[in-house]
Amino acid sequence: MRKPFVAGNWKMNTDSETCVSLAKSIASGSREVAGEGVKVAVCPPFVYLQAVARVLSASSIAVGAQDLYTESKGAFTGEISALMIKDIGCSYVLCGHSERRHVIGESDELINKKVTTAINGGLLPIFCVGEMLEEREASRTSEVVSGQIKNGLASLSAEKISAVTVAYEPVWAIGTGLTATPQQAQEVHALIRELLAEMYGGQPAEEIPILYGGSVKPENAAELMAERDINGLLVGGASLKADDFVAIIKAVA
Ligand code: PGA
Repeated sequence: MRKPFVAGNWKMNTDSETCVSLAKSIASGSREVAGEGVKVAVCPPFVYLQAVARVLSASSIAVGAQDLYTESKGAFTGEISALMIKDIGCSYVLCGHSERRHVIGESDELINKKVTTAINGGLLPIFCVGEMLEEREASRTSEVVSGQIKNGLASLSAEKISAVTVAYEPVWAIGTGLTATPQQAQEVHALIRELLAEMYGGQPAEEIPILYGGSVKPENAAELMAERDINGLLVGGASLKADDFVAIIKAVA
């Protein structure tokens, strides 16, 4: 049985003190369930990864980066490689988060390279997809999400796909307080599962965790998780408050 998975995306938040106190509070609050009934990961900013990884080394909480570069080393000023992320004790990395797609301007092609680089570097990518509000309103959700899945996972073998976690995050629900209803989320999760089955076969597709993200809170975590194809949650704002994040972890466990 696949365990539910809750990942926290801290985005560009915390500082050298609050990253440590937040990690400590999450670890102590979730001690009884993290790693047992539920897999948990947090994704702090690059500069605090090592401090957070150190604090969490004695816990069952994994650490992930929020991005990576597609080369392993060399003259790429400002970039961070999969090897470096792995070297400091991280296991996960977010790829194609909506803010990287829409604020920074990452393409499907670049995101595909990042997913592949992450896997080849021994990391577990959390590959994010999701439509914008105007795309949903124009009934283009399936087309947009299908394109992101096909292009983002292009050329990835059936063997490598087992390292991937997919996260469906409708852009209109991220940081807005507007959550997709469990039915709206399930509809897209089922579509993603179907596409994965076409690409990799039914059994591998069943095993790929598909997380929902977008204004997840302690109050809506359990109802989202009750849907068949929602296997976990990717949490932004609420992962910065230890009490809320722990309540979400417990609601899912
Ligand atoms: P949110 O962010 O929970 O603050 O909506 C989710 C995300 O961007 O991963």
